[in-house]
Amino acid sequence: MSSDEITKRKKDHIEICSTDKANFRNKTAGFEYYDFKHYAITELNLEQIDIAQRFFNKTISAPLIISCMTGGVNESKNINHELAKVAQHLKIPIGSGSQRALIEDRAKLKSFSIIREAAPDVPILANIGAAQVAQGIKLEDYKFIIDSLEADALVVHVNPLQELIQHRGEPNFKGLLNNLESLIRKITIPVIVKEVGSGINGEAAEKLLEIGVKGVDVAGAGGTSWSAVEYLRNEKNADELFWDWGLPTSFCIKDVNKLKENYNFILIGSGGIKNGFDAAKSIALGADLVASAGTFFRLLKNAGAEKLIEVIEEWISTIKKVMYLTNSRDLKELRENKLIKVSDYY
Ligand SMILES: Cc1cc2nc3c(=O)[nH]c(=O)nc-3n(C[C@H](O)[C@H](O)[C@H](O)COP(=O)(O)O)c2cc1C
Repeated sequence: MSSDEITKRKKDHIEICSTDKANFRNKTAGFEYYDFKHYAITELNLEQIDIAQRFFNKTISAPLIISCMTGGVNESKNINHELAKVAQHLKIPIGSGSQRALIEDRAKLKSFSIIREAAPDVPILANIGAAQVAQGIKLEDYKFIIDSLEADALVVHVNPLQELIQHRGEPNFKGLLNNLESLIRKITIPVIVKEVGSGINGEAAEKLLEIGVKGVDVAGAGGTSWSAVEYLRNEKNADELFWDWGLPTSFCIKDVNKLKENYNFILIGSGGIKNGFDAAKSIALGADLVASAGTFFRLLKNAGAEKLIEVIEEWISTIKKVMYLTNSRDLKELRENKLIKVSDYY
């Protein structure tokens, strides 16, 4: 794939994701099927609720992540700069977009390294596609993309559906687990595997944990549909049938959370997180942290960085209010039986 083609693809993604026209149409993340257990005799003081925590050797102010988005084109340099300033201001982690373009053209360094320049104190996640891992990447290239961000962890995104629908996509993941396992042995930072909107269930997550993956970001269905994004780029040849394909985020979090009994890993809930309630419900279902891409992206593009900061602060405040109303002293208690399935009321 030529560098020009990757550039065009990235520009299209930015343009399409600036509105919600590529969101799931007939499927939600499933949070509406849960309600919080209101606890009438809470003994908490809202002001004393603290949700700061450690994430890969750094302290973050809240369990929220600005998810992996962009890099490699001029537009994405500005976007990354703005997102990184937001992350630094709020002291929350941020993910880079796929760094494949950087491996193919090192002149694209600045559109990625700007993230670390603008966010010196927060955890930053490097990012590469599973299709590239499966095909094989040189160790020095992995090191280069990690060093370009002084990254705290490497995210490998699995996107079999996107590769399937994408014009000139690469639906070939043969050798992925083997290559991933040997990568994990060779690099010094932890590896997180994330989907991009079709979800990772417990069965798939276990395969990853068995080979030493330290974090699973379920990135389930309910928000941005990457099948839809690629369909909209190439309507003539792509298959619309798969627009709503994927496992809802709430299901994925619950399913992967069961593995915590046997494995030590970080569970990230993402995919269609639209407000602080969705974030709090993700945590109550078992997520250690919650990430958002499309919602944050559109706020940044359409209302600016100040507004994005304001909204993320609101989400943080909502999580704390939910903890107060469910008598959860800390995030661990929020994960302990604080939800009711709506159908159980009646
Ligand atoms: C503009 C944009 C670009 C994205 N690019 C990447 C990427 O390069 N690598 C990646 O792992 N995920 C990428 N994603 C996917 C998101 O990280 C996320 O997994 C997906 O959009 C589902 O989350 P959402 O419903 O909150 O958008 C991108 C998302 C957006 C909105």
